Amino acid sequence: MHLHRYEKIWLTFGIGSLVIFLTVLGVSAFAFGQQPPSHMAKVDPQNVRDAAPFDEPGLRQINETTYQANIIAMAFTYQPNKIEVPVGSTVRFHVTSSDVVHSFTIPNTNVNFMVTPGHINMAEHTFTEAGSYLVLCNEYCGTGHHYMQMTIEVVE
Ligand code: CUA
Repeated sequence: MHLHRYEKIWLTFGIGSLVIFLTVLGVSAFAFGQQPPSHMAKVDPQNVRDAAPFDEPGLRQINETTYQANIIAMAFTYQPNKIEVPVGSTVRFHVTSSDVVHSFTIPNTNVNFMVTPGHINMAEHTFTEAGSYLVLCNEYCGTGHHYMQMTIEVVE
């Protein structure tokens, strides 16, 4: 088989790029552990209320500026329905569902994730401005989907 010189150059370039790309990806993933946030933490969806941390839904203070919010999503609300943190706080959201798929979306922030039954879905956000933040469900979950919301009060 005859290959034109330019074809050989491009083939070498193409295969070389692929090898470099896969090497960088492999090293960063396996050697440096850079992986997308995993939602591998599991919880029994039938017994959410008996399983830590959802047996005590609500806010827990981790250190001076960090809180963990354990929240159960269900048709058609969140438990708790309102949390309050001081401005500047970082909140780690640990959210699960006791029934179907919901979402946990805080408009105008990067917090926007699906809440899947059986998993502890996590995200973190630092609230640098005081105000009342609405949390919405943006996964259709039934006839009351559009009523499903909660609020986060960020106070001075
Ligand atoms: Cu929950 Cu839509």
